[in-house]
Amino acid sequence: MTRVTTSPPYVRYQADLERPFPGEEELVRQIVGAMESANRQVAAKHRHGLRDAHAKSHGILAGELRIEPDLPEHLAQGLFAAPRSYPVIMRFSTSPGDLRTDRVPAPRGMAIKVIGVDGPRAVDDGAATQDFLLVNHPTLPFGTVGAYAELQKVLERQHHQSDLRQRSTRLVARVLTRLRFPLPRIAEVLTTPNHHVLGETFHSMAALRYGDHVAKISAAPLSEEVRALTGRPVGRRAGESALRDLVADFFAHHSAEYEVRAQLCVDVDRMPIEDASVLWPEELSPHHRVAVLHLPAQDAYSDARRRYADDVLSFSPWHALEAHRPLGSIMRSRRVAYPRSSDFRHTVNGVQEREPASIDELPA
Ligand code: HEM
Repeated sequence: MTRVTTSPPYVRYQADLERPFPGEEELVRQIVGAMESANRQVAAKHRHGLRDAHAKSHGILAGELRIEPDLPEHLAQGLFAAPRSYPVIMRFSTSPGDLRTDRVPAPRGMAIKVIGVDGPRAVDDGAATQDFLLVNHPTLPFGTVGAYAELQKVLERQHHQSDLRQRSTRLVARVLTRLRFPLPRIAEVLTTPNHHVLGETFHSMAALRYGDHVAKISAAPLSEEVRALTGRPVGRRAGESALRDLVADFFAHHSAEYEVRAQLCVDVDRMPIEDASVLWPEELSPHHRVAVLHLPAQDAYSDARRRYADDVLSFSPWHALEAHRPLGSIMRSRRVAYPRSSDFRHTVNGVQEREPASIDELPA
């Protein structure tokens, strides 16, 4: 008897999967302009240039990305095509473009810079890095440039800064209601608990090219010590920089492993590329481990590292291989936003931006 095996219909990447959002260029101009003016105010307050978003760092780590051996063809794509290892620099952060207390929950970020990758670039930047920028939520509530710009307008009308993530819970609730967001989504945004950052699972939220296919990327705790931190509350009496202290204390004694996973798109209607607010159902396509991120014990927050990560380094989804081109209107807006934020920060601080060519550029 012949066995017929069918593989799921992994969507094949092609350029026309992306569709411009109506009025996209103007919307991106507005979004980036609003972020930039908020950033100028923050820089004036601190007399130092910070990132437009994710300004506060909690730990800066050297590690290794080990691509899984024997991946099936649909997962052995782009950076993940062959089982080799790459040096990485990682930065944990919190989303506002200002330095806020860690006592209050806010979206947390994990930025991964893979060093020494080969292949055609998504943009002509002459670099050899692949960045993955992840946040501890699977979707972006304002998942198109239209929704994102609308949010900013409402906030501005209320004479506040542009970034939702900096606002008080009551204001956010009001804005979301005025934008006619469904109640469960409002609750989801507002009830984020304040958990130990190292136990969180981080997501690309938006889609990217995955070689011949399209995927969302995530990173989840794998080793026992970081899995044990999942859901562990940050104490109410924690200090302003509780997360930095937790990360530094952890890596003073422990190593950590995270699994890097790809969720491939199998249905462009139910797993849209142009709207990052839609959760891609795991029943349609599970997250598959494609690599392990290994982080040895180390000093995760020396002054030299903080200065290097906050002032010299830039992470961007557009530091990318063409095989991992960011997709959808939110990703396209980031192509303009990140260099603008980074240029401003480097100019204000009189620091030369430099994409690392070797892990040795990360100070001890
Ligand atoms: C898919 C949704 C998004 C994710 C997962 C994400 C994630 C992140 C992360 C993790 C960082 C910190 C990087 C670091 O450690 O240096 C960051 C920074 C930043 N994000 Fe986003 N972000 C998203 C959407 C956006 C959007 C829509 C904008 C604006 C259009 C934006 C603007 C910025 C800027 C300007 C920075 C600072 C860049 C720099 O100065 O180096 N992000 N983002």
